[in-house]
Amino acid sequence: MRILITGSSGQLGTDLQTTLTHHELTVLPHSQLDIGERASVDEAFSAYRPDVVINTAAYHKVDECEAFPEKTFSVNTVAPRNLAEACDSKSAKLVHFSTNFVFDGNADQPYTEEDSPAPLSVYGVSKLSGEHLVRATSPKHLIVRTTGLYGKAGSGSAGKGLNFVELMIKLGRERGKVTVVDDQIMTPTATADLAQKVATLVEDDVIGTYHITNSGACSYAEFTRSIFEKVGIKADVTPTTTAEYNSPARRPLYSVLDNSRLHELGGPPLRLWEEALQDYLESRCYL
Ligand SMILES: NC(=O)c1ccc[n+]([C@@H]2O[C@H](COP(=O)([O-])OP(=O)(O)OC[C@H]3O[C@@H](n4cnc5c(N)ncnc54)[C@H](OP(=O)(O)O)[C@@H]3O)[C@@H](O)[C@H]2O)c1
Repeated sequence: MRILITGSSGQLGTDLQTTLTHHELTVLPHSQLDIGERASVDEAFSAYRPDVVINTAAYHKVDECEAFPEKTFSVNTVAPRNLAEACDSKSAKLVHFSTNFVFDGNADQPYTEEDSPAPLSVYGVSKLSGEHLVRATSPKHLIVRTTGLYGKAGSGSAGKGLNFVELMIKLGRERGKVTVVDDQIMTPTATADLAQKVATLVEDDVIGTYHITNSGACSYAEFTRSIFEKVGIKADVTPTTTAEYNSPARRPLYSVLDNSRLHELGGPPLRLWEEALQDYLESRCYL
């Protein structure tokens, strides 16, 4: 299969590259393809003639998105439509990623794909709108909603920002204490695991909308305690609430995603988040 990955130097893009090596792979980081530029997207299609486009590009600094809605909608809504139009015209498939932030977080059990989205933030609205435009434009699409991603490209080595795991390790070591919200519940998900599952779905030609995360759930404070415990960092984790934290963007409190539709396809569920975290920390030589 000829597969083109956009936003390829990001966390998920990087792990997809190492997972899909047995395909004819084209990887285009932001510096080589801005998916917001329609002419550049068309040029890439002419040059590489992909059977499948995997769009991992996004603008997801959730608090910044509140201040820059135009940029947010440009990258997360309009740009996926560019890709969807190009895919539709060439009969290619589009794999696109979305987020737990499309939900309002008022549920008390995991969200299924049938549950009604009700995003609380500019980011959430932009991602939901991106989903809608992909569905409306390109019948051959796979939309994957996921949560709490961390992967090796978020380790700071590429000069980019740190993912949550790396940030907590840094702050825990430097300050000896961190204050973390204890009322936002989600599933931390390793991009290495997500990439493997997405590769299988691509190879099996699955289309539609799927929730894919590691198994289990926790709050960000519990996630942080687990990171510190495994790495052996003796730092205090002070729990706080989303209301006290008062960040610019509103966030869903409970946004665990039900993976049942994925399980109906067969194959094992993604492993528990604690096991995936352990592997990540080992691969980063923290253990
Ligand atoms: N991270 C999470 O916790 C999380 C949770 C749920 C869902 N998701 C979704 O999962 C997907 C992958 O996330 P991730 O964590 O792998 O993101 P990431 O590490 O930030 O990677 C995103 C990549 O997109 C690139 N990009 C930004 N604007 C672009 C543009 N206009 N054209 C082309 N590339 C562009 C970025 O490049 P530059 O940095 O050079 O701009 C970056 O390399 C996204 O759709 C995200 O919304 C993420």
